[in-house]
Amino acid sequence: MLPFELSFPTRILFGTGEIAKVGQEAKSLGQKALLVTGGSSAKRTGLLDRVQAFLNEQHVSHVLFDKIEPNPRTSTVDQGASLAREHGCDFIIALGGGSVMDASKAIAAAALSGRPIYDYMRGNPSGTAKDLVPVQEALPLMAIPTVAATGSEANNISVLTHWDTHEKSSINGPALYPRVAILDPALTYTVPAHVTAEACADIFSHMFESYLISAPGTHVQDGITESLIRLVVEHSLTAIRQPDHEEARATLLWASTLGISPFAIGGRGAGMPLHQIEHPLSGHYDMAHGRGLAILSLPYFEQIILQDRPERLARMGRECFGVSETDELAAARAAIKAVQRWYEAMGITQRLSDFGVDKHALEELARESIVIGGRGAGYLPSSRPLSEQDVISIYE
Ligand code: NZQ
Ligand code: ZN
Repeated sequence: MLPFELSFPTRILFGTGEIAKVGQEAKSLGQKALLVTGGSSAKRTGLLDRVQAFLNEQHVSHVLFDKIEPNPRTSTVDQGASLAREHGCDFIIALGGGSVMDASKAIAAAALSGRPIYDYMRGNPSGTAKDLVPVQEALPLMAIPTVAATGSEANNISVLTHWDTHEKSSINGPALYPRVAILDPALTYTVPAHVTAEACADIFSHMFESYLISAPGTHVQDGITESLIRLVVEHSLTAIRQPDHEEARATLLWASTLGISPFAIGGRGAGMPLHQIEHPLSGHYDMAHGRGLAILSLPYFEQIILQDRPERLARMGRECFGVSETDELAAARAAIKAVQRWYEAMGITQRLSDFGVDKHALEELARESIVIGGRGAGYLPSSRPLSEQDVISIYE
């Protein structure tokens, strides 16, 4: 196991009905909130009305910003930050999925500094994230996830797209941890089947990416990860069939928070190579993040992990997907098939061409994934350094 740091400063209130505490909790963060939501779901489901009523009950003054799109854009963040400054908001409430929570973190930073958020992403003149400076100051933030997916509610990462250049990358820093997060599984009952499926593929990806290429000796993390993956696979199908299944939604929500935390992935000495390969796709084609990961993961397993770390694939198959083959290579292959069957059961097996991704664009997308994801190294670290050609082959 390699050295790692665990900082978990977000106070978490977990449980069905906990949303009723939003007003009380908000009072401890500031005087006036910018309440940030996506474009439609919170209104359509009645959640926004309920949250505003809870805030009004506690006399929490707030201004609504309901313009965050999936794969949130820097231009939208700048609009939100201007609105917060104009109205003198001194804290932010994020009510939505990963897109809303990530955008809210960025608004919290940009509203305080008055700088365009792209300044924080640019890092250095060549546009890579190599010299990114961690964000040290931001307004206090409360996160209320309405999708179980990213774990953004308890981490310090914000993933943004600068649409002018189609650059999708992240900013982070100690100031971006939400102060408090309300995790109420009932808020996720209205998540449609296809978003639930994409979200589960994302939770899975946060864990398998470092698990499959892990440094040796991560026994504690391996046990946690295997248990979480098993639970996500099992409960994903229940939540898709029965969207208001409390136990399934609660399991997915807590698994999404823990799955991207150092409890599950610390000490492995590995990042998330597949995320870096996916980001150019959502940056250019606005593809749902989890769907892109599901599509890319199968060729990634076949072409990279099966060659370099078949024993880890075999172990994931046995521990998480009921694979019984004793031969390592046969078990590794069976694991890939089992993941594919799970994706099929959730309805998320497609090809990039279904999203209008042209084969002539692949070279440029691969280059971008190496430049941004490789942070100046010239390759993407995985079980071995991945070249532009490796990434093109996965896309193909
Ligand atoms: O936009 P609205 O109208 O709210 O609708 C959303 C959106 O269409 C809808 N939705 C959300 N909650 C709902 C709901 N519909 C019905 N009922 C509800 N309760 O779901 C759609 C997808 O929402 P989005 O927030 O985009 O999904 P997700 O949570 O998967 O977030 C994806 C974003 O997070 C980033 C991704 O790159 C992507 O931009 N990530 C952030 C990470 C982090 N901060 O640590 C890590 C992840 O790996 C990921 O990269
Ligand atoms: Zn992700």
